[in-house]
Amino acid sequence: MNETDHSKKTYNIKKKFSIRTFGCQMNVYDSDRISEIMKGSGYEPEQDVEKTDILIINTCSVREKPRNRVISVIENVRSRNAGVKIVIAGCVAQLEGEELFADGADIIAGPDWYEELPSMLSRNELTGDRISWLDQGDPRFLANSSEKFQVSAFIPIQKGCDNYCAYCVVPAARGPERSRPFEEILQEVHHVVDKGTSEIFLLGQNVNSWKGDGGFAGLISKISTIEGVKRIRFTTSHPADISPELIKAFGNNNKLMPWLHLPLQSGSDRILDAMKRKYHIDHYFNIVNNIRSIRSDIALTTDIIVGFPGETEDDFRKTFDAVSKIEYEGMFSFKYSSRPNTAAALMPDHITEEIKGKRLTELQTMFEAKLPSLLQKYCGQAILVLVEGPSLRDPLVARGRTPQNHVINFITDSDPQSLVGRIISIKVEEVRTHTLFGCAMPAF
Ligand code: SAH
Ligand code: SF4
Ligand code: F3S
Repeated sequence: MNETDHSKKTYNIKKKFSIRTFGCQMNVYDSDRISEIMKGSGYEPEQDVEKTDILIINTCSVREKPRNRVISVIENVRSRNAGVKIVIAGCVAQLEGEELFADGADIIAGPDWYEELPSMLSRNELTGDRISWLDQGDPRFLANSSEKFQVSAFIPIQKGCDNYCAYCVVPAARGPERSRPFEEILQEVHHVVDKGTSEIFLLGQNVNSWKGDGGFAGLISKISTIEGVKRIRFTTSHPADISPELIKAFGNNNKLMPWLHLPLQSGSDRILDAMKRKYHIDHYFNIVNNIRSIRSDIALTTDIIVGFPGETEDDFRKTFDAVSKIEYEGMFSFKYSSRPNTAAALMPDHITEEIKGKRLTELQTMFEAKLPSLLQKYCGQAILVLVEGPSLRDPLVARGRTPQNHVINFITDSDPQSLVGRIISIKVEEVRTHTLFGCAMPAF
């Protein structure tokens, strides 16, 4: 083989990339777009990090634990694949910028600039320079151009957040709130529906404040008129921004699923004020009561932070009682984690890890003990389930989602794969810890 042949062969080898994703649904959506951008520029996806040329870590900084996983992932991958290029994307990239070069990053890309990744990689390849691209504020949204079929498709309708809750890094990491234009959202809904998607899952840090004609409730109403859209969900809602129109929509729009994720964070008004959440517990209970009077079968889920600075035993008790009283069907609960450059980090009276841990365990133990009995109400009911595929444990058992967003595993005579994307009637027979178990109705 002569020199020319050799260089030609090297030129033709496609570089491989892997992506590791941490954090919220927004990062899951962004990682899919990054994958399309990379494939569109001739890179090849590779699952095995030992064989990949480029590892893109899409990071989360919302608490210290996910933040610190960045370092362990870099160390672990470098020990197995010394020559790999490391790209840090997402919220840690935006917040910490070039400091991450010291941790072994080659490229640092903030969440608004993923379209530039291939050009950053080429420049790095040519010059060996480490590169960061971080400016915030790009109003453009990355569109989903994937040909892939998804049962349920995330559609971002908003980026950033203007709320500045005292504990939260998201406004700094994702920039100011920007609403995606209506036409673009519609275009993406049509795109995924054409590929077979039945469920539209609208995403934003505070979807209720989406700015556009008719507001958020109007957007849902317009999306529900699109043929092929069978189910609509959204997350996350801020209790201070829930409009009466949205509550009404739960009563009169049968495509809007009876599930609302409504983070409470704390049951104590004193702590809600300190958190700058802009509502009190009475307002929250009013929303819960109004929504349940309009849609009695709605499932509510929540986020809770325990051990916010200054939280007393009495404040925690209020959170505990509110969670117990509201009867949530799902809860994400966290120990408060101090984040750099947030207002809460500078507050006095930080709570010890020991007390935070004790409160979290107490809250979670109560919740876990209560949940199975709350879910018992579904037993014996025939429920319409959107099938997602085989169950995670047994390929002969199928898995899907109920309207209330509960996972249900069920027995069926059909191959679970053949049912993917269909909505079928399932009789719920048992509650197994957090999941329901059922059986396909004979006539589905
Ligand atoms: N926009 C969403 C929250 C996104 S962050 C909302 O307002 O509901 C997801 C959750 O992480 C938050 O609801 C909160 O419960 C938790 N969280 C955010 N910052 C945190 C911190 N510093 N410590 C512990 N939990 C935190
Ligand atoms: Fe963070 Fe509050 Fe914005 Fe949610 S609403 S992303 S908790 S600042
Ligand atoms: Fe984490 Fe950023 Fe989402 S901090 S929760 S990945 S917006």
